[in-house]
Order: sequence, then C-alpha cells, then structure tokens
Amino acid sequence: MSSQDLEILKQSRELVARFMGLMRAAHLYDPGNDAILHAAGEILELATRIRGDGVDLEVKARHDSIYIGGERIRESAMGSSIYHGFIDVLRRAGLGSFTIDEDAQPSDLEDFSGLLIEALSGEPGSVDIAARLDVRGVRSIGVEKLDDEALLAREVDQEQIAKRVYLRSIGVVKNVFHSMRADGRVNSRLVKRVVQQMIEAVDHGHIQNLSSLKNYDEYTFNHSVNVSVLAIALGRHVGLSRRQLYVLGQAGMLHDLGKLCIPIEVLNKPGKLTPDELKVIQNHPIEGFVSIASKVGVFDDTIDVALGAFQHHINPDGTGYPEVARDSTPGFLSRIVSIADRYDAMTSARVYRKTPIPAWKALSIMYHRQGSQHDNALLRYFMNMLGAIPLGTTVRLSDGSVGIVVAGNPEPGLSHLPTVRLVLDASGQAIGKEVIDLASRAKGADCLTVEEAVDPARYGIEIMDYLL
Ligand SMILES: [Fe+2]
Ligand SMILES: [Fe+2]
Repeated sequence: MSSQDLEILKQSRELVARFMGLMRAAHLYDPGNDAILHAAGEILELATRIRGDGVDLEVKARHDSIYIGGERIRESAMGSSIYHGFIDVLRRAGLGSFTIDEDAQPSDLEDFSGLLIEALSGEPGSVDIAARLDVRGVRSIGVEKLDDEALLAREVDQEQIAKRVYLRSIGVVKNVFHSMRADGRVNSRLVKRVVQQMIEAVDHGHIQNLSSLKNYDEYTFNHSVNVSVLAIALGRHVGLSRRQLYVLGQAGMLHDLGKLCIPIEVLNKPGKLTPDELKVIQNHPIEGFVSIASKVGVFDDTIDVALGAFQHHINPDGTGYPEVARDSTPGFLSRIVSIADRYDAMTSARVYRKTPIPAWKALSIMYHRQGSQHDNALLRYFMNMLGAIPLGTTVRLSDGSVGIVVAGNPEPGLSHLPTVRLVLDASGQAIGKEVIDLASRAKGADCLTVEEAVDPARYGIEIMDYLL
C-alpha cells in the first residue's frame, strides 16, 4: 500500500472518530453552537482530503464493517467502542450509508446529525431522514436506507448486484427525464450516485452483459443506461482514470436528454421523416447541451458531460450533426460516447426497425465506417472489449443447438470460443440453463464451436429471460 493510501486510511479513521464527536456535540449543545459547526467543518475538510474534488464521499456500514470511499476500515486500527458505536448509529437510524457531496456545508452536517439524534431516540428507522433532509433543502447529504443496503449485502453474488444497479439506473434516467419535462429540473446528484455504482459494477465485469437487454417500450431510458455502461466499460478498457469514468458515465446517461424536445409523434414516426421533422431530430444534441449546461452548470467536470451531448452525432471527419466547422472534431470522451451510442442504437429494436441488428453485424458495420464515423483506435478497443462474439449474441453451435453468449474468453486468440448458455437442443427442444465453456470443448470428439450468430426472434428466444 502506498504512503498516500495509508494517509487516506488514516484520515478515514479520523473521520469516523470526528463524526462520533459531532454526534456528541449535537447531543449536548443547541443547534448553531460553535462546537457543532467546528466538528462539522473538520469532517468536511477530511472528506475533501479523502475523496479529492468533484466526487461524492460514501460512508457505509455493512456486515459490521465500515467502508469509506469504498475502502474497508479495520476495527483493529481504531477504538472498538467508536467503531461499533458508529455502525450502531447508522443501523438504529435505519441507514446503510450516506454520502457527503463536495459542496456540503457545516450546517448541512449539523442538520444531518440532528436528525440522527432524533432517530436514535425512537424506533429503528422511525425517522425518514431522506425526506426530512429534503424538506430542509439539504441536498448535499445523500442517504441510503438500510433495507436496500442489507438486501444488497445479502446478494454476495456480484452479478445480482450489477443487475440491481442496472435496474436502479433505469429508474434514475426515468426520474431525470420526467422531472426535466415537468419542472425543468435535473437532479444531477441522483445521476452521479448511480454512475458511481455503475463504475463499481463494471469493475466487477458483469454489467456489460446487461447492456444487451433491450426493452422496446422504453427505448430512450434503456438506451441511456446502456450507453453509459458501455462508455464506462470502454473508458476503463482504454485506461481512463476514475474521475474520467465518472464524467463519461454521466455523459452517457444524459447524452440524449435533448430528445425531450422532440414531439413524441416525430420521435416514434415509423415512416420517412419530412425535412422539418429531420431538423427537429437533429437539433437534440444542441438542446441536450443547453439543458445540461443550464441545469447542471458548466464547470471543469461537467463541461465534458454537456459536450458529450453536443458532440455525440458529430463524426471524427466533421460530418454528422449539428453542423460544425470541419476542424472542430469531437473530444475524446465524446468519441467514446458516440461509439457506445451507435452500437446500442443499432442493436436495439426501434419503431422503424422492429428487428435489431445482431451485435456481431453491428460491429462489422461500424468496422467499415471507421475513420470517417468512428475513431479507429477506440473502435479497435471496443471490438476487443466485446470479444469477437459479443455478450448477449444468440448463436447456433456446430451440433445444431442454440444458446446465448454469456461470457467472453479473455485469452487473446480464443475470443471465438466464448461461454454459452444453451437454450435449445439440436431438435429445437428447450433445455435447462446448461452453460458450456467452448474453450474446454475446442478439441476432441465432442468438439463444439460457434457456427453462426442468429436472430433470437427466429427461435422465439427472449434474451432478457436468460440474462436477468
Ligand atoms: Fe442522440
Ligand atoms: Fe443516443
């Protein structure tokens, strides 16, 4: 562990101790007392040093352990009474975790500690802290209820957690789009939190599977989450920093926010668009940029989120829309969003194309458009990441059975031998959920290989049933 990591751990332990100090002060003194505000100020300083700028700091209690910014703090490294006292406070208040945003003020923490004290004197979970913070206008402290967290903790299976994160993200996108439409507000905190969880899930390598889920009815919501997941995964694959992934995830989630300005009958028009309708559609990157810039604000970090919306239909050769000067080509993060966007759009069913393009075919189309429409290098990384046969692809095997690719083969040179979940046997009969690693069947008498990628609809296969 580097000396910098050790320093962060030390500060995290201090933060827990200071938090308990804040609780004591809030218990002893009246609101507004200097002792409370001083303790709160110290906690905020520590939080800034631990997380760096721009990212929320999550403080979590799970399985009798404390985690700060994703790192486990060991009980042995600090006093047991403080350690368990802290876990007990959260548990009795019905909380699994809370986050401190970068713009939190001492008075916000004071409000939070006051609510915790109130919660401790009642039944566990009797005070709805989230709602009360909201009423008080405290937006910089986010809380997660114990139920959700306990449920998450039970799902030791990381894949289950990834599914929950995916579904939660869809809820967040819906919420953001609906509130933007209703009162012109964008709750960027919700987006930030769920993007952090997505990055964690992508770290565990599961969530990419889920981006192959398609739900025709709610295309835009699914699409926004898929683009975000794919962009984070691609960004991680090319070695971007966590901070950049964080920006990228938000850019993916919000890239089509401008579509809210397109009348639904135009958006869902199955036939050919009139020139005027086309103009409205092609305006969505500008609308998206303006919405993000005006609602979320333009700061060092958010400018790339807004640019992701503005540039995601502009090609590296300067073609596409909106029209820009030929030499003002899209930035690096926008190019990533753009690849994720095209790939997901092609592989989804749309009003004007009921049958989605199979993943392998979409990649081949993109491959032929590299250079002009896609960044060459990034596209190579993308294809390499998805494997020769992308996850979620329905395949017919050499013995005639049909299955779904559920995992790629990480070995270079063996990407044509993925892991397949069998669905139908050679005679078309449904079979259980047998999973075969084709690499283990690459040779010998019972050799099994991928014959071709097929359209799942042709076999009546609902991919979602097998991945969710
Ligand atoms: Fe778009
Ligand atoms: Fe899009």
